[in-house]
Amino acid sequence: MKVVVAGTGYVGLVTGVALAKIGHNVTCVDIDSKKIALMQKGISPIYEEGLEELMVENAKRLSYTVDYKKAYKDADVIFIGVGTPERSDGSANLDYVYEVCDNIAESIVHDCVVVIKSTVPIGTNDKVEEYLRSRVEDGIFISIASNPEFLAQGTAVRDTLYASRIVVGTEDKYAKDIMREIYYPLTQEPYNVPYLEMSRRSAEMVKYASNDFLALKISYINEVSNFCEIIGADIEDVTMGMSYDKRIGNKFLNPGIGYGGSCFPKDTKALHYLSCEYDSEFKTIKACIDVNKHQKLHLFNKLKETYGNLNMRNMDIAILGATFKPGTDDLREASSIDNVKALIDYGCSVTVYDPVGLERFKKIFGDKIKYATTIDECIKDKDITMIMTEWDTIKNYDINNYINLMRTPVIYDGRNCYKLEDIEKYPIKYVSIGRKEINKL
Ligand code: UDX
Repeated sequence: MKVVVAGTGYVGLVTGVALAKIGHNVTCVDIDSKKIALMQKGISPIYEEGLEELMVENAKRLSYTVDYKKAYKDADVIFIGVGTPERSDGSANLDYVYEVCDNIAESIVHDCVVVIKSTVPIGTNDKVEEYLRSRVEDGIFISIASNPEFLAQGTAVRDTLYASRIVVGTEDKYAKDIMREIYYPLTQEPYNVPYLEMSRRSAEMVKYASNDFLALKISYINEVSNFCEIIGADIEDVTMGMSYDKRIGNKFLNPGIGYGGSCFPKDTKALHYLSCEYDSEFKTIKACIDVNKHQKLHLFNKLKETYGNLNMRNMDIAILGATFKPGTDDLREASSIDNVKALIDYGCSVTVYDPVGLERFKKIFGDKIKYATTIDECIKDKDITMIMTEWDTIKNYDINNYINLMRTPVIYDGRNCYKLEDIEKYPIKYVSIGRKEINKL
């Protein structure tokens, strides 16, 4: 069976490599020739643990090309894993998906299953099928299957091979058979992934409903945590107490400075937009979006309340962590960006440290801020340190260094990296999320 994957971002490339790992011959197509040249050398264009090793290990079953015509021509199955970025009104932009469809239509010479992995609004699979069928040559049968992706960045390879579930949306027997054959190895030892079949619309909805539920969980716990600060409760005790109820569990209950990344912000807005289009607004999702917007600046607002506009001018601030979460170099919707913008607006001088995200951060802020390659260098002679991402290097950083290197050892921790009982042993000021403030200065 000839398998082709269109798009080599997080979803496309990881899917292609995982399918090669389970024995398929896969051609990865992208329009970016620089990326293709890198992958042909066995180099991953994205930072993702374990991905490059798998690319090398399965090199004989993987090929990369910009020549879509040749790739799509005799493909049996084509996975579409291109981006569906957010438009300014919150809706999903499907231009890349339709561009791939145009390319498939002009190239394909025999029957083919087209699988949509990109996150797309409910009903898109139906529209894409109609679009493609009206464009391919007579006699060629195209069937569309929805196969949403549930991988998280940083654990994408494991999330794909040892997936929580494989969801396949199609009512067509031809597509069902091909999809079962493709994924059969993943449903067996050692992977044992549950395989779920349903209608295309249900599959599309599973993706949005899952992502938005997780985002909602985070916004909820962030509101609980803000309220804990007001009433003098401790969020960690509260979440521990909640987590013993198996219906609630202990996952995705970490409070912080909001969720970022390429999925939650985009998918919450897209589902909200879609619900409004159907005149049936998702009020919970609307609340989730609003809470997250506010939460991103929760730490900054605390700083502002304490020091006031005037005192903040010319303050030297160290920012530890730039990426939207640890384990990735992705900065999309990262809270660090909102905070650094706000600090610059208030006249602060900002220095940023991140173990992998600095190059990308430089593209956003240029010479408006300074960059440090170590934590020591970043916090040296600073008035305040703000923690934005819970990288291990930051969580394991010796608290004594804040005292020895900073002008004043004041930490605003947006990810609760330190235990309060540890912090209490030191002469520092420490402000975190949903926990009491410690001031031993
Ligand atoms: C997410 C989903 O987890 C994944 O299933 C889906 O396919 C794509 O979207 P990802 O965006 O890579 O994956 O990261 P995730 O680990 O879910 O974190 C997203 C954001 O939520 C990060 O900014 C993270 O800091 C934040 N988060 C997560 C919290 O603030 N608290 C938590 O308890 C968990």
